This record gives sequence, C-alpha cells and structure tokens, in this order.
Amino acid sequence: MYIVNRTLTFVRGAILSYGPSAVKKKLWDKEFSGSKWDFINDTAGDCVYPYLEKYANQGNILDLGCGPGNTANELALDAYQSYIGVDISEAALAKAVKRTRECGRTEKNSFVDSDFLSFEPNCKFDVILFRESMYHIPYGQVLPVLKKFSQYLKSTGVFIVRLYVGDHRPGVIKPRVTSKIELIKREYSVVEARQFELPALPNVIVFRP
Ligand SMILES: C[S@@+](CC[C@H](N)C(=O)[O-])C[C@H]1O[C@@H](n2cnc3c(N)ncnc32)[C@H](O)[C@@H]1O
Repeated sequence: MYIVNRTLTFVRGAILSYGPSAVKKKLWDKEFSGSKWDFINDTAGDCVYPYLEKYANQGNILDLGCGPGNTANELALDAYQSYIGVDISEAALAKAVKRTRECGRTEKNSFVDSDFLSFEPNCKFDVILFRESMYHIPYGQVLPVLKKFSQYLKSTGVFIVRLYVGDHRPGVIKPRVTSKIELIKREYSVVEARQFELPALPNVIVFRP
C-alpha cells in the first residue's frame, strides 16, 4: 500500500509540474471541487502574513497560485491597496471570489484564471508571492520563471516564496524543495529568510534580483 501511495503521489506531482495546462487544470479542479483542500480555507495567523504585510508597503500584490482566496482575505486589509490572485483552477477561484464578496474586499481583490507560467501581468508589483505553489514549477524552470516575473517587480519590490521543506513524516526533508530554495538563495539577493519550527518546516524567503 505504501509503495502504491508513493507511486501515485509521484505521478500526481509529475503531472502537476510537467503536464500540459489543460491536464493540470482538470486535476486541480477535481481536487478543489472536493474536500481535499478544505484545510487551507482557514490559514489565519500563518507565518507568511507578517512578511507580506511588511513588504506590500500598502501597494500591489500578485499571488501566483492563489488557491481559494485565503491569502486575499486573511491578509490585513490596510496592508495593501490591490491584490491580484492567479490560479489554474476555476473551482479554487470560484471559492476565492465568493469569499472576497463575503469579506467585502471586491474593491481590492481580483482574480485571473490562468496557468501562471503563461500569465503576463499589465502592471508592476510591490510583492510577487508564490505561496505553496513553487512545488509545481519544474526545477529547470524556476530561474526562467523568476526572471520573467522580475520585470513586473517595482524597483523596491520583492518576491516572497513560502514552501514546506519537511512533510508529515518526522525528520523527512524534501530534497527537491530544498534544492529550489538553495537555487534561489544562490541566484537572488535574499532580503530575509527563515525556517519555522512548525510541523513540516515552512520556509519563507524574501528576495529580489
Ligand atoms: C497547494 S495550493 C496553495 C494555495 C494557496 N497559495 C495557499 O498557500 O494556501 C497550490 C495552488 O497553486 C495552483 N497552481 C498550481 N500550478 C499552477 C499553475 N501552473 N498556474 C496557476 N496556478 C497553479 C493550484 O491550483 C493551487 O490553487
């Protein structure tokens, strides 16, 4: 059973990183249409928020792989002027739009249905966020993707990446995630980086070109 589960996890991960957009979209939609991701509906108090609120500078945020609108609606309202969330899953975005309406944030929050790999913004941002979404960028694509989005950072802007380095098994470190973090630290100017001692070791890295 263990081997079957590990194989399925591996295949899912490969499709979500390397598959065509239409296939990724189908898979994410299926997952967000069920209850699998309900646990991220409430992430208030997450370790990424103080960083977002500090670097948003009451300006513009681009959230790549925004999910069901948790970041858009849990972030302090006065910390930002505008927020654009991009996601490949219509099902996740429907939740994000609904929650934004319920929270009275439609003036500030907007959402785009797109694969972020092909998304082209039409303005510059104080923060470009990859919160739990960089797993789905193949290692060889990380630098090209960051280079592309660098042109959409204001001169004082930063990228913020949040990633779990551990998993639910104590002591297990994910080598592929660690190598992406090391790559970023080597190639970009790190402003702040911290690993939190919460379960599964979330890392937050703030960096700029
Ligand atoms: C693990 S969820 C994280 C959601 C949210 N950012 C959070 O941290 O709670 C990953 C999200 O990234 C989105 N995603 C994955 N690959 C994507 C891609 N290539 N383009 C756009 N969104 C993508 C998924 O649909 C999903 O909503």
